Amino acid sequence: MRLDQYLSTSTALSRKDAKKVISQGRVYVDGVPARSANLQVAVGATIELDGSELHLPGELYLMMNKPDGVISATTDNSQPTAVDLLPSPLASQVHIAGRLDKDTTGLLLLTSDGQWSHQVTSPRRDCPKTYQVQLAAPLSSEARAQLEAGVMLKDENKPTLPATVRVCSDAAIELTINEGRYHQVKRMLAAVGNHVTGLHRLRIGTITLDPALAPGQYRELTENEIRSITGRA
Ligand code: URA
Repeated sequence: MRLDQYLSTSTALSRKDAKKVISQGRVYVDGVPARSANLQVAVGATIELDGSELHLPGELYLMMNKPDGVISATTDNSQPTAVDLLPSPLASQVHIAGRLDKDTTGLLLLTSDGQWSHQVTSPRRDCPKTYQVQLAAPLSSEARAQLEAGVMLKDENKPTLPATVRVCSDAAIELTINEGRYHQVKRMLAAVGNHVTGLHRLRIGTITLDPALAPGQYRELTENEIRSITGRA
């Protein structure tokens, strides 16, 4: 979004007045006075007018490529969190829609919209999640059939819903599940006598992790990506 548009959306200023305050040097972008109304505002940039920080109205929807070693939480006293990786104006507004283990990498959705995140995580919604799974041993055909039919997890009394398995190489599969139970993928593989050595989330519904995002990077979701979760056209 252009800087003058950002100002007119986040304040009562008209586009013309927005251009004026920019040329008067009253607008700062990431601490630097902005002189051009054409400037493209990056996601997460801090915009100030006369020393006050501005925010766009509406909800925020982000995807992040979660790195290994950060926890899926908004704050933690002792460990780095995924939300810590966002600039403070964004971090203060979002929560995580569908957690990953500390050692799992890949697609993490963050939003300020509680209803939307409920649709991502609710067991009653059909929102499949696809994981790239590295295994300690090749998946036997019996184990594959068990995962596809549903397996009983340790200490639970209801089998998992049928999953989809795609064998990628000897000890690597893509697994699509339709639930979000605690440590589900690791426990499913343990239930069929294997062991997960690496886990990466690739997709939630039809939202695929953007390959341009390096670990720790994030971007805003597109309108289509946001709507793909709610099913609204
Ligand atoms: N299943 C797991 O076991 N861990 C994750 O982080 C996500 C799904």
